[in-house]
Parts: sequence; structure tokens; C-alpha cells
Amino acid sequence: MSDFVFAINADEISAGEAVMVKIGDKFYAICNDDGIFYAVDESCPHEGGHLSRGLVQDGCLVCPVHLWAWNLRTGKNSAGRPHLLLNTYPCQFRDGKVYVDVSGPIKPDEGMNFAGLGEES
Ligand code: FES
Repeated sequence: MSDFVFAINADEISAGEAVMVKIGDKFYAICNDDGIFYAVDESCPHEGGHLSRGLVQDGCLVCPVHLWAWNLRTGKNSAGRPHLLLNTYPCQFRDGKVYVDVSGPIKPDEGMNFAGLGEES
């Protein structure tokens, strides 16, 4: 069951940037990819880099440590390591605010349609 929680005002994240947000005990990187918002784990699945310090471009978040690009829709990486996936979370953009579903990450194998996540409805 979905549990969308306010994360951040959209105008606090410039296009191409990510911002760390703590909700409950968990840290997320909220990303602005040219007006489409995504929520992912803040800690890089590779070696724990702070993904909120990375660069957002072309649907990916580039980790500042080893520069792997993580796909914001699928959680896959550019390094050809399919066993390492970045957790991605359903994200909504309403009335200038970004909300994250804190009930758990999207499971790519569930066949969810990723299109439109985080776009203003
Ligand atoms: S720690 Fe992020 S790519 Fe290595």
C-alpha cells in the first residue's frame, strides 16, 4: 500500500541537482531531471558514495565517487554490474511539492510502468 509523504519543495532542487532528504530514519536523494522528479537511496549501492552530491542528467544520477551513472527509472548502473541496483521510489509532484512513497522501493521485476513518475499531475 502506497504511503506518500512530503519530501521537499520542488523549487529547492535546481534542474540537474539532487538534494538529500531525511524521512523517518531513512535518507533519500531527491533528483530533478529537467522538471521530472525522482527519489532514490542517498547511499550509492557500490561503495556508499553520497548520491545527493552527484549530477543529474539524461535520466541518470552520476555518483561523485566513481562516476557510475545510475538510471533513475530502473536503478541499473553504467558499469555493467547488474547485481548492483539502486533503489528507486515512487515520487509525485503536486502543487510545487515533491512526495515520496516511503512504503518501499519499486521492484523492477514487478513490471511497473515507470513512465511519468514525479511529473506534475
Ligand atoms: S561509490 Fe558510487 S559508483 Fe562507486
